[in-house]
Amino acid sequence: MVEAVKTVELSKIYRGKEPVEALKEVSFSVAKGELFTLLGQNGAGKTTFLRIISTQLLQTGGEASVLGYDVLTQPEQVRRHISIVPQDVATYGNFTPWEYAYYFSMLRGMTTSKAKEDAERALKAVELWDLRNRPCATLSGGEKKRAIIASALSSNADVYMLDEPTSGLDAVARRNVWAVLREIVEEGKTILLTTHIMEEAEMVSDRLAIIHKGSVVAEGSPDQIKKMTKEKFRVVIEGDLKALGLSENGNHVARFGNKNVIYIKDEDEAVELVAKSLKMGLKAETATVTLEDAFVKLVGGDLD
Ligand SMILES: Nc1ncnc2c1ncn2[C@@H]1O[C@H](COP(=O)(O)OP(=O)(O)OP(=O)(O)O)[C@@H](O)[C@H]1O
Ligand SMILES: [Mg+2]
Repeated sequence: MVEAVKTVELSKIYRGKEPVEALKEVSFSVAKGELFTLLGQNGAGKTTFLRIISTQLLQTGGEASVLGYDVLTQPEQVRRHISIVPQDVATYGNFTPWEYAYYFSMLRGMTTSKAKEDAERALKAVELWDLRNRPCATLSGGEKKRAIIASALSSNADVYMLDEPTSGLDAVARRNVWAVLREIVEEGKTILLTTHIMEEAEMVSDRLAIIHKGSVVAEGSPDQIKKMTKEKFRVVIEGDLKALGLSENGNHVARFGNKNVIYIKDEDEAVELVAKSLKMGLKAETATVTLEDAFVKLVGGDLD
């Protein structure tokens, strides 16, 4: 079966006075109909990866294909099937959200009525329908971003490549976007997105890859990623750990002022620590590790 996106040892070196190795032999596949997320710190290589597979940037090594079309030798075919939201994108001030959504659909060769239908659906999905005829210059930052998302969504592509689409959106707007992304995937389309929002990655992704300094360090479903860390439980304690006889050293404790997060392997041990803390009058609770915990530990090299 042809994968939606496939890379084999994809590498990128930005050549300049000081060459930067932005991608180091990255190999993975995104299946058709999957929502796949790339997670990584600033500078990890996410945008570089998306720009290469969307034919905007040439790799320096390895191979990449979209729906079986090679990005180097068949860029036209790749472009025909993809829709992108770039990380840093400015709107044309005198374009309206309606024009964005409608023209992008028309540019894809849709009929007028289909383009209208797609534009309406996309603008409603990002809650811009009431603002559809306002010039973008008069919209807020988040509203402009939603206009760009609507234009990408109304394009009827097979593979969507979205570089931090919800950055700058408020919590309600973000959830609307999550809902529409899941709808698109349920319709059989493929989405590859990057995000820094762990809740987003956890809520919407079928699978994700953690990319660190240009290499993939973990890949799997959100649940599988969470299970990759040595410690599967977190205890949050408010107060002085010394009173509990706990050391604050090592990477098993993360301290934020008065609040401490302690990572623990064994569930019974976590429950015991909570009980002990409560007895001493400290606020304490335990839960399984979050995707954010796992991410921080994995990029810190704490693999099981
Ligand atoms: N045009 C360029 N020339 C030289 N180095 C570059 C260029 N673009 C990016 N880089 C470097 O390549 C690395 C990867 O950058 P990239 O933009 O892919 O990261 P990112 O994961 O998208 O980060 P962010 O989360 O901040 O958007 C970084 O070290 C960056 O400084
Ligand atoms: Mg980026």
